[in-house]
Amino acid sequence: MNPFDLPRERLEELVAEHGTPIYVVSRGQVVENFRRLDACLPAVTLFYAVKANPHPGILEILAAAGAGFDVASLGEIEAALAVGADARRDLIFADTVKDPRHIAHATAVGLDDFTFDNRSEITQIARHAPGAGVHVRIRVSNEGSVAHLSEKFGCLTTEAVPLLCAARDQGLVPRGVSFHVGSQCLEPGRYLEALDLVRAVFDGAAREGIELEVVDIGGGFPVRYFDEKIDITAIGRTISTYFEGLFGPEVKLVAEPGRAVVGDAVALVTKVISESERDGRNWLYFDDGTYGSFMEVLLYRMKYPLKGLNGGPLTPYVLAGPTCDCIDVFSRDAAGDVCTVDLPEMHLDDLLVAGSMGAYTFSESTRFNGFEPPGFVYVD
Ligand SMILES: Cc1ncc(COP(=O)(O)O)c(C=O)c1O
Repeated sequence: MNPFDLPRERLEELVAEHGTPIYVVSRGQVVENFRRLDACLPAVTLFYAVKANPHPGILEILAAAGAGFDVASLGEIEAALAVGADARRDLIFADTVKDPRHIAHATAVGLDDFTFDNRSEITQIARHAPGAGVHVRIRVSNEGSVAHLSEKFGCLTTEAVPLLCAARDQGLVPRGVSFHVGSQCLEPGRYLEALDLVRAVFDGAAREGIELEVVDIGGGFPVRYFDEKIDITAIGRTISTYFEGLFGPEVKLVAEPGRAVVGDAVALVTKVISESERDGRNWLYFDDGTYGSFMEVLLYRMKYPLKGLNGGPLTPYVLAGPTCDCIDVFSRDAAGDVCTVDLPEMHLDDLLVAGSMGAYTFSESTRFNGFEPPGFVYVD
């Protein structure tokens, strides 16, 4: 159940009980999203990317569903352990830039799987996690994705084998190759192109006597925000079939999905706390904004489905958050400029609901100006 579709009365009840702003979470949708990915990528091991949404309730649901966790820091390791994850079996440290103190902590609790993409990371891992298993992350095309990651992460394919050899020479155990096609990837072909590159690295490594056994296809699986045609099952099956053709049954497939697991399982309810007319435009100010749940509007021009809970004539509004910064406006056009959106007439105390607010909202929210992130309310 997508909580954006909950009836108005139910959302009002939740607000009466819990106040605003709140994230309304469907447990059932989190589980359904996870199971769908698991089913369409047969033989995959899924490590949920904790960064997408690290709320303990979400991690609990996923631990109970059998997920592993992709962690990026000591804090995320602790969050996963707190819901019962076993560090060795269930955790991978897949961020390629790691604080050495966090590597040491990971080793102390038993985590034994790290990803790197440069020589200094090999040195850091060898120092603080001697003998650990490692994956090299390669740079792949992120065209067609909303959030690009290839500028900052991933070595060139030609560098991968020398790096794996360097890792082996420093006592680490090369296990596999990973990539990330970028978050909210709307071009499934990117996974297939990336798998071709991974195949070349496997072959090159074998010539150096390194038998790799894991392909980690990262995250990137998309979420429906509006009426995009997204068929996760078809995407997963295409990847699986291609993977099996290239690697056969011996090589293990791993994925680190974040957005697709939690995105549409959460709706945000936020309240109008002030309104004004400025330069001929109506402004509504809410108790949540870009320093809270709407950071991706600034980062990636992200748009979310929005609805007012009252009826009334459609009216153009500028939508702003509560902080004392002009950047705190979450109605923005494709260029990032402030724009209006049409909503049924709204005034002080009225409620706005935003859909598909599960991923990179709570986790990217700040405490700027002393505003706390929204509370979590679990329904179903
Ligand atoms: C290393 C790594 N793995 C997995 C993910 C999750 O990606 P997504 O939320 O697009 O599935 C990310 C996102 O930034 C990432 O950096």
